[in-house]
Amino acid sequence: MKIIKVKNYEELSQKAAQLVAKLMHKKPDATLGLATGSTPIGLYKQLIAMNQEGLISFQQIKTYNLDEYCDLPQSHPQSYYSFMHEHLFDHIDILEENVHLPECECGDLQAAVDKYNQMLKKTTIDLQVLGIGRNGHIGFNEPHTPFDQETFIVRLEEKTRIDNQRFFNSLDEVPKRAITMGIKNIMAAKRILLLISGKSKAETVKKLITSEPSPDFPASVLKYHKKVTVIIDEEAASLL
Ligand code: F6R
Repeated sequence: MKIIKVKNYEELSQKAAQLVAKLMHKKPDATLGLATGSTPIGLYKQLIAMNQEGLISFQQIKTYNLDEYCDLPQSHPQSYYSFMHEHLFDHIDILEENVHLPECECGDLQAAVDKYNQMLKKTTIDLQVLGIGRNGHIGFNEPHTPFDQETFIVRLEEKTRIDNQRFFNSLDEVPKRAITMGIKNIMAAKRILLLISGKSKAETVKKLITSEPSPDFPASVLKYHKKVTVIIDEEAASLL
């Protein structure tokens, strides 16, 4: 893992955007794996600005998101479909047909899982953007998920639901299930960019750096990947 330490969230977002833009210049039809959550919002802001200034184009870019909540309509403001449109897709020149998320609304969740997994198997993600949960989850691969897991329906840990409660009116409203790319799908990306920011992730960063790969801490699997860049800000790195 290549670790880049930066001062703060602003610098983390700029550095991440530079890396994504570099790939987009080199490969204008690249496939990006994208994440939701608070961490990549700054990166998406930077990408929007670069796109609007004409420095990068998304016209040939394809995207696959890590995950989507079950039991929420796509139109719900907190669905990851809505999140991605609000924070990125609505502001850039990407084609809607090139945007992919698990489609949890179809009624048959297992069919949605199979469809997404087949799509992922047919494509190669050039760069996968990741955040990390305090419990070490990547995507919604919670602790003890096997490293060879493909796309699946996950029951979210209580800790994860509590962490995500800030986006909802109450804990009751936070979905209990999601469809997520599995660890195997994530590890198939050519390159991975993990972004970690803030004091609340300091213990998580310490564990990531010091622990041996184990399903107890899903992000530790990244130590087996040859091309991982981790950008960490000072607060998140404060226990190193
Ligand atoms: C998001 C995702 C999650 C988040 C993680 C961190 O699509 O799959 O793994 O990256 O929960 O979330 P934040 O950035 O809100 O701390």
